[in-house]
Amino acid sequence: MKTQNLESVARDLVAARKGILAADESTPTIEKRLKSIGVASTEENRRAYRDVLFTTAGIGEFISGVILFDETIRQKTRDGRTFVETLEQQAIVPGIKVDKGAKPMANFPGEKITEGLDGLRERLVEYRRLGARFAKWRAVISIGDKIPTRRCIKTNAELLARYAAVSQEADVVPIVEPEVLMDGTHTIERHFEVTQQTLESVFHALSEHRVVLEAMILKPNMVLSGKDCSQQASVQEVAEATVRCMKRVVPAAIPGLVFLSGGQTDLQATEHLNAMNRLDHVPWELSFSFGRALQAPVLKAWKGDPANVAEAQRAFHHRASCNSKARFGKYTPEMETAKAIA
Ligand code: 13P
Repeated sequence: MKTQNLESVARDLVAARKGILAADESTPTIEKRLKSIGVASTEENRRAYRDVLFTTAGIGEFISGVILFDETIRQKTRDGRTFVETLEQQAIVPGIKVDKGAKPMANFPGEKITEGLDGLRERLVEYRRLGARFAKWRAVISIGDKIPTRRCIKTNAELLARYAAVSQEADVVPIVEPEVLMDGTHTIERHFEVTQQTLESVFHALSEHRVVLEAMILKPNMVLSGKDCSQQASVQEVAEATVRCMKRVVPAAIPGLVFLSGGQTDLQATEHLNAMNRLDHVPWELSFSFGRALQAPVLKAWKGDPANVAEAQRAFHHRASCNSKARFGKYTPEMETAKAIA
């Protein structure tokens, strides 16, 4: 298989200074987000919200790619351009979520398996035609009493690898996202151990399915203390544990790691990314593919009111620029205050 084009798109996605905006919330998830600001989840409101994000002036300086949802990739801006065109005009690469969500795993209480392989080959052809150059598939691993099981990790890894192989065949760069959730009372050591096991399984499966590592991107979780753990690791500890874990298992052939935010606050996610980029040299780009950590302040500023669009876009531009700085380890908390005064 010729993969030069895929490799070049993968490198563009992790270009210096830039990261990915995950705006691929499924219909139930975006409904939750809009409800949190008192906005009804109609198709027009979902479109209007994404319009705010994608038409933010200058955002192409900090954002390399945007992950869209099936509905979103077909929508247009207020002035009639497709979202795909709008992104491309800012040199942003359009991408698409292709999994069908994490569903309860039969016989494995508390664990989930991601669905979506059926018909994937055909869906990828259509998405590629609509302009998507990369795809995303998210697997979810939970930590709890006697979980995760080996079977859950292995089955999710196998599905991720099958998805990645089919994507490359369709000339679409796969983002491989095995997310070990931060929900729970577990320690950072336990999160480290499960993240390592999961990534080992994922890279074993990717190799067995002959996925070209230079032509994919890994989207991992950071290694953190459980949300409800009484002992919370410091920013430096999180950065060191995450990079140590990745070094053990992620091959140097992978062009970049784009971390998910996973329920951290926007500031925490930026601080952790920044601290990782201040550590010693690693073989991959350390970047971001944040959903909530880029969008939380935008939603709060927008509130569904057209009069707030400029303020919401300022909030998005600011968050994206802070994360861009964090890619060099050059972010400082003072940047947040400067925004407040401006
Ligand atoms: P969060 O950054 O909110 O975790 O979202 C990233 C994502 O794409 C989850 O699949």
